[in-house]
Amino acid sequence: MTDIFDFSAPPPLYAVMGNPVAHSKSPQIHKMFSEQCDVRLQYDRIQVDVGGFEQAVQYFQSNGGRGLNITVPFKVEAWRLADELSARARRTEAVNTIQFEHDMIIGDNTDGVGLVTDLKKNLHCSLTGKKILILGAGGAVRGVLQPVLEKAPANLTVANRTVDKAVALAGQFNDLGEIIACGFDKLHGQTFDLVVNGTAASLADELPPLPDQLFNENALAYDMMYADKPTVFMRWANEHGAARTADGIGMLVEQAAESFFIWHGVRPETTPVIEFFMRDNRPHA
Ligand code: ATR
Repeated sequence: MTDIFDFSAPPPLYAVMGNPVAHSKSPQIHKMFSEQCDVRLQYDRIQVDVGGFEQAVQYFQSNGGRGLNITVPFKVEAWRLADELSARARRTEAVNTIQFEHDMIIGDNTDGVGLVTDLKKNLHCSLTGKKILILGAGGAVRGVLQPVLEKAPANLTVANRTVDKAVALAGQFNDLGEIIACGFDKLHGQTFDLVVNGTAASLADELPPLPDQLFNENALAYDMMYADKPTVFMRWANEHGAARTADGIGMLVEQAAESFFIWHGVRPETTPVIEFFMRDNRPHA
């Protein structure tokens, strides 16, 4: 009988690079996936100095690294550095997943599919024919517009503090479907089935200035951020008529599952991993 693995060889090396990266859950998620799927790997956290990203990637690659996840603030640099890009990474102009292949850096972006999969599979929230509002117009929102538009919502509004940024973003994606771009003040009198908070406001425990009547019956309020406690946006949504709220832990796990699939060709079960991380922040599916 032959062993499947050569345990004398070091395991294939993966990591997440970012700054800060100390609190990243990615190493734990990939460890759980690897145990579940019998894929042998080592997955580390690498804190990279701003200005040192390219060098860090080259060092990792030349030391046998197989793949990287990239997080804040290096996703755009990773997009610039890649030798080849997937269609979705090209469109979002950001890379969160790198695969090293024959000395080439292949860049992909799994954030958008992570959100849409979490909404559909875990939260049973269909996007087709729905009135959707996305708050924010930064990198996080740019990463999810394509897969959301592909689900053919009834309409999609992107509202941002700096209106010009929402307008510019809408202009870059309107070949995929109409996006209504506006400031928060223009939301008065409108209601939505799904409101996604893609602003960085929750990080600072702040809330965008939103009108009190924003949610349709059965509406879901989704914060792309996650924390141990419900975010300020989730608490506000609960008090202002949202039927359900969820944080972004499911998106994080689903984007990791897509990265895992790119690297290893296996799709892990995400439900037990989400349940492991889930506190009281999301409704049970
Ligand atoms: P990320 O990669 O997290 O999207 P980003 O590209 O810097 O980060 O974008 C941050 C987003 O959060 C922007 O839409 C920003 O609004 P502006 O474009 O007006 O700066 C939004 N944002 C940050 N803090 C906010 C706050 N306190 N209230 C409302 N929006 C906020």
